[in-house]
Amino acid sequence: NEIRLFSPATVANVACGFDVLGFCLDSVGDEMVIRKVERKGIYITHVEGFDLPYKAEENVAGVSALAMYEAINVDFGFEIEIYKNIKPGSGIGSSAASAVGSVFGMNELIGRPFNKTQLTEFAIKGEALASKCEHADNLAPAMFGGFTLVKSISPLEILEIPSPENLYATIIHPQIEIKTSEARAILPKEVSLSNAITQWANFGSLIHALHTSDFGLIQRSLNDVIVEPYRSQLIPHYKEVKRAAIEAGALGAGISGSGPSIFSLCHGQETAERVKEAMRQVYSKTNIDFDIHVTKIN
Ligand code: HSE
Repeated sequence: NEIRLFSPATVANVACGFDVLGFCLDSVGDEMVIRKVERKGIYITHVEGFDLPYKAEENVAGVSALAMYEAINVDFGFEIEIYKNIKPGSGIGSSAASAVGSVFGMNELIGRPFNKTQLTEFAIKGEALASKCEHADNLAPAMFGGFTLVKSISPLEILEIPSPENLYATIIHPQIEIKTSEARAILPKEVSLSNAITQWANFGSLIHALHTSDFGLIQRSLNDVIVEPYRSQLIPHYKEVKRAAIEAGALGAGISGSGPSIFSLCHGQETAERVKEAMRQVYSKTNIDFDIHVTKIN
């Protein structure tokens, strides 16, 4: 009647795949306990780590749980405990981890009536509460693992993209908060045709490179000419961190989701550790607190 689960952090956009591409960080995430209870309804009964609302309708995990609850006609309810490690506003899918965790857990407790795409659909409602728009590029990798591509939101179609052997990510999280809604508000509503061409060439190439384990092509494809020029201004020392990562051997680097976290992709763990050191050094010289992780992408 109870399940304890790990709900992973995720990196959305991955440079050229704004709002559609993402990958899962297997070793960073939240824990949640979901419990089937007699009283009907959805109840957030415990929150630890960061301050989050207890009212289900105001809580991301609660809203996605309510969306699923409405779809199942049952005479019992669920309690949700959230042990948050992923700081809200950090750019590694904090809201997505909450939104996915509650519905995944509930589904397990009632015999898995829904598939992962259907569960993601409920989770979109929770994510929308946090970012004021419906996007699933953090939800999909949190739900499926690895790299995912959100082909469309309505109807929801998610593609699982293979990860090459030995692909690692480093993530540095400077302790400043950027609200996704604000980082979206600064983006232009229209893009030039020439930038669009560059972006979709890079995006298509990156997907091809992931399928064929072509690390050189990953390196040449990790560029973002549309979003990064605007959002990078919100992140202190962004250019230095990116340069340091690439000089230390990263295939490329970019803003994780809406920031402020910065990710890099690396071929092999040794390189990833070297890149971690290089990124660390940039922020060590500032008075900004940060944490930094290396994780294999599965
Ligand atoms: N694709 C979304 C954005 C992800 O960049 O706004 C938010 O984490």
